Amino acid sequence: MSVATTIEMPPAAANRKAWLVDDAETEQALARQHELGQFLTPVPVADFMASLFPLRPGPVHLLDAGAGRGALTAALVRRLCRENRRPSEISVTAYELDAALLQQLRATLSACRIECEKAGIAFSATVHNADFIEAAVPMVRNDLFAPQPPRFNTTILNPPYRKIRSDSATRLLLRSAGIESSNLYTGFLALVIRLLSDGAEMVAITPRSFCNGPYFRPFREDFLAQMSLRRLHVFESRSAAFNGDDVLQENIIFHAAKSRRPPERVIISSSSGEPGAAVREHSVPYRDVVTPADPDQFIHLVTDDGQARAKTAMSHLPAALPDLGLSVSTGRVVDFRAESFLRQQPSQNTAPLIYPCHFSGGFVRWPKVNSRKPNAIVASEETRDLLIPSEVYVLVKRFTSKEERRRVVACVYDPTRIPAESVGFENHLNYYHAAGHGLPITLAKGLAAFLNSTLVDVYFRQFNGHTQVNATDLRSLRYPTRPQLEQMGSLLENPAADQNELDELLRKELDVTL
Ligand SMILES: C[S@@+](CC[C@H](N)C(=O)[O-])C[C@H]1O[C@@H](n2cnc3c(N)ncnc32)[C@H](O)[C@@H]1O
Repeated sequence: MSVATTIEMPPAAANRKAWLVDDAETEQALARQHELGQFLTPVPVADFMASLFPLRPGPVHLLDAGAGRGALTAALVRRLCRENRRPSEISVTAYELDAALLQQLRATLSACRIECEKAGIAFSATVHNADFIEAAVPMVRNDLFAPQPPRFNTTILNPPYRKIRSDSATRLLLRSAGIESSNLYTGFLALVIRLLSDGAEMVAITPRSFCNGPYFRPFREDFLAQMSLRRLHVFESRSAAFNGDDVLQENIIFHAAKSRRPPERVIISSSSGEPGAAVREHSVPYRDVVTPADPDQFIHLVTDDGQARAKTAMSHLPAALPDLGLSVSTGRVVDFRAESFLRQQPSQNTAPLIYPCHFSGGFVRWPKVNSRKPNAIVASEETRDLLIPSEVYVLVKRFTSKEERRRVVACVYDPTRIPAESVGFENHLNYYHAAGHGLPITLAKGLAAFLNSTLVDVYFRQFNGHTQVNATDLRSLRYPTRPQLEQMGSLLENPAADQNELDELLRKELDVTL
């Protein structure tokens, strides 16, 4: 059952670009903000996050890692001072690397002290102008001369977001503490979790990418083993852009408690991010959020009843991809690496090179006149490994544009429309194949129609919060049987037909309605 309340959100609350520190005047200052992942939380969002903590008796030992100007700590202190059942004491430990923000952080903490004094709460604060990862790793590793880690029972955070290269010092440092992390934000979260006492409460705002990204699997396993998820909140707006990343990314706010026991149920809520937007919330069984048998441990956000129906319908589909005798791979041609072999127009000794721009309805249309992308690749000994036999394949875009209605956009590569011996699929595509070869055309049409359905779109959005469609995501789906897909393919001319027609076909052949 959904419950509607409202919270005040600033315009484009989910848009991180709008959260950059607002007084950066020079290019250099902006570059530094990006480097440090400085997206400061707007006050209404911070207040909403603070409202998610359950009230507990006793002192609050709060950790704010990557504190910025202290918006999150301030919001929590504000809330606790207002409550009837106030804590006796609040001690804050804040880490902030950027010295330029310290003066404002200290001013925020001074204001917190005054507020606490008025409310009769003892207040203390320690600010570390230090790299949180460098400071926390020795504590977590229990190094001989490392300071004894204080145990925090509360943490509120908006950690910096930046990819960390596999050979970077930060990555190696985290690895030395047993943490495998491809992004700064999951590195922060993993360290913070280790500094929490049992039963501690955590509320964080982060990108949603950790819920399904293949590189975040070690983090998901680590996180779900130590933390009991209580609530997940998403902003529905797809304009949630993360700077420095070409993937449109959604933010997520979550509340979790340190406990190895998974919860029975999780509250899922969502709001658009617009001012005064309604917050819809409902409670779902934990197994609907993380499927116990899922080896990838995806985190699903089933935000309404339609999505719940889609999840049930998908989970009842009979086949996994290997049952269909199929695999999905990412296109082998990385164009900038194969630049010298690319040709604008086909000629003798070239093979078609297929990009997303060649999608035209349910089929590949090739060559494309006046294309900004090359239409062909030289077929030679040197490019042999990049090419596959020109047979029937189902292609799926890896990135969909903001304007596109669906996240999963599929079409059929039909060699009878494109005379060639071999073909190259560019890296912005995923392709379904049977051990490197093609599929029967009816199976391909049925599979593409299934992938283009509203059912798959609604389901996909529950675990994938960005516009990137990974091959792992497609491997994780359940599918109809091969005969069911072939039957659908035989009834359809075009696997990207009118959406109602596709959905009606699924209703008839698979008995699913949303
Ligand atoms: C996304 S901002 C959030 C700031 C603040 N928590 C808020 O919500 O407004 C992340 C903060 O982490 C700081 N930061 C980046 N890398 C850091 C590091 N290695 N150690 C400590 N702080 C860091 C940035 O300077 C920035 O102020």
